[in-house]
Amino acid sequence: MFTYQIEDNVVIIDFKTFKGYIRVITPSIINIADKSEIPSFAVENKDFPNCTFDVIKEKDSLLIRTNSLIVKVSDNFKVDFYNLKNEEICIDYLSENKKHLIEVTKKLKDDECIYGLGDKISFLNKRGYDYINWNTDDPSPHLETYKSLYKSIPFIICFNKKLIYGIFFDNHYKTFFDLGKTHPDYYSFGADEGHLNYYFIYGNNFTEVVKGYTFLTGRAPLPQLWTLGAHQSRWSYFTEEEVRDIANNYRKHQIPLDCIHIDIDYMDKYKVFTISNERFPTFKKMVDDLNNQGIKAVTIIDPGVKVEEGYGVYEEGIKEGYFATYGGETYVNAVWPGDSVFPSFISEKVRNWWKSKTKFLTDLGIRGIWDDMNEPASFKGPLPDDVVFPGDDRDYLHKEIHNVYGHLMAKATYDGLKEYDKKRPFVITRACYSGTQKYSIVWTGDNTSIWTHLQFQIPQLCTLGISGFPYCGTDIGGFGGDTNKELLIRWVEASCFVPFFRNHTANGTRRQEPWQFDDETLNIYRKYVVLRYSFIPYLYDLAYEIEKSGAPILRPLAFHYQDDVKTHNLNDQYLVGESILVAPIVNQGQRARMVYLPQGEWIDYWSKKVHKGDQYIIKDAPLDTLPIFIKNNSIIVQDPPYDYLDPKLRKELIIDIYGDKAKYYHYLDDGESFDYKDGKYQVYLFEVRNSVLTIERLRNNNIHYDRFIIRYKDQEFIIEDINTKTEIKL
Ligand code: GLC
Repeated sequence: MFTYQIEDNVVIIDFKTFKGYIRVITPSIINIADKSEIPSFAVENKDFPNCTFDVIKEKDSLLIRTNSLIVKVSDNFKVDFYNLKNEEICIDYLSENKKHLIEVTKKLKDDECIYGLGDKISFLNKRGYDYINWNTDDPSPHLETYKSLYKSIPFIICFNKKLIYGIFFDNHYKTFFDLGKTHPDYYSFGADEGHLNYYFIYGNNFTEVVKGYTFLTGRAPLPQLWTLGAHQSRWSYFTEEEVRDIANNYRKHQIPLDCIHIDIDYMDKYKVFTISNERFPTFKKMVDDLNNQGIKAVTIIDPGVKVEEGYGVYEEGIKEGYFATYGGETYVNAVWPGDSVFPSFISEKVRNWWKSKTKFLTDLGIRGIWDDMNEPASFKGPLPDDVVFPGDDRDYLHKEIHNVYGHLMAKATYDGLKEYDKKRPFVITRACYSGTQKYSIVWTGDNTSIWTHLQFQIPQLCTLGISGFPYCGTDIGGFGGDTNKELLIRWVEASCFVPFFRNHTANGTRRQEPWQFDDETLNIYRKYVVLRYSFIPYLYDLAYEIEKSGAPILRPLAFHYQDDVKTHNLNDQYLVGESILVAPIVNQGQRARMVYLPQGEWIDYWSKKVHKGDQYIIKDAPLDTLPIFIKNNSIIVQDPPYDYLDPKLRKELIIDIYGDKAKYYHYLDDGESFDYKDGKYQVYLFEVRNSVLTIERLRNNNIHYDRFIIRYKDQEFIIEDINTKTEIKL
């Protein structure tokens, strides 16, 4: 039998041979650990407000009762969770056959689904599969058989139609999740090093669980408006002329564009923080000219620093001891530049050094930084586990910090952009850990131009969204291999609402800019980029929401319809916020598809036909049609057409009313600075009732539009935005 004591919000349980720690973070978030203070890369702010709870000793167990949960602790640190109705939410199973030194096994209910784990190539429901979190760059086409990809996000959401909870296993060593593969009625998670340290996150619905998880690990900050626009990339645009040509073609073909990404060949011999003067003789002028066309430039950087005498970054790092070592020598592996060394981002000194280097890029007018190869990738075999990364307080072994290497690089890059670009930093990272969302957006790495990868885009991005990474995207058109006309068209359609919208492809593959095929491709491509731009205010409102609740932009249908089991395994549709349902075509040759419309009424965006929900319908979808449905009784805000997203040009807003009764909050700010943190923003409330639309500014300041264009049924009204509250008879 055990004894216990309470220290602030921690119940310390002494099982004689070891101690268990149960920390009540909030009434619905409980931390279970084997040590009192465990440092975390994900949970950076541990100043949790106090929270009251009762501890009741029973004969064989201890009950910790908060206002939303009962945690029952029994011998051998068995921890079970019940709701206040005493229903089982999550029950431990003390297994005799552990595969890992640290391992927790929990019971699965018959109808329980498991979502989560970030970027893994799989369907939404991962029950029956097992995964490993170990950031991995594997260039062959990613398949469902892959246990790990670039990212480690050890967070799962378990739910059935009634109950839902999340588990965040905050261990950044290699971690293992067996989600009912070994035994269909149990799942387990574990590691062979580090600590038992997991959070149980309870909620009444998806929104609350994601809110709880992002309360712990942080929420993705509001991005600059332009980052939601269209991005074009290729490995590589090899010369200045090529980059300019891309910009000119976009403008010539009247396809909106906000950003061009410049891949590794802009560097001199792939040396990070250099420019090839041969191929980019007037780099800064090129960037300035792009800017004048309303197009921002983003450059890629890689952590591997070329071994080369006389190269400043290498020499400085060697002199200061900033690189990883092995057997007392600087550790060398190979990446794009050939033999390369690896900055020890675990050290704040090294991060500050890296941060200072980003000034080289911002001085050239670069507006965003793309952190790649930061698993870290290595061409001469994996880094041995015991490569040493010098830290400020102690040395860290590779196996300990592998999964947070990308996280720490992203953090240094974020700090650099914050200091030198002075806007909300735009960082994109390939590798990350839970919590990296505070510093960077993500893309899913090197996909392939195959239909399977278009199909997986939906569950993959929805999963990243509920795993804390709302700003995510795939390489549109596919990275490896040659795309084709139909695949590119369907990929652009399927990505119309994807938060990070970037066409990117590998060196040597067929070109896939919008004009590379025929007029039909060009026209459909344009149609969907233009459509995306019209929805930018709606997307930006969702972005504002993310800072408050963590609710992602793309949502699996179960996010809002958990009580409807028909949504639980729906992998080929998604919601954008709550009001838009998208059902892309993701199969070659398909020209119609079945769409599941959940309860309520749904309006076909194209035909305006109203469908009853809770049914499957067949929707025709010729090559130029992306099936989109708007939930009845919604207000959708839209922009008039723009070539690019300049907040200063945004003087009018379209208010599109679906149905007769709706309420909507709309957010407006300068779209780039941190001034919103000082209250410099406006929130409008739009409300339709009894054929009257009320427009009200909820904040007393001078931030507003010039006019609104109101669309209701077949009518259009134009209203000047001069009053703080206006009523319009519809
Ligand atoms: C990696 C990246 C890819 C990039 C390439 C060259 O494969 O994932 O996006 O284009 O490196 O930098």
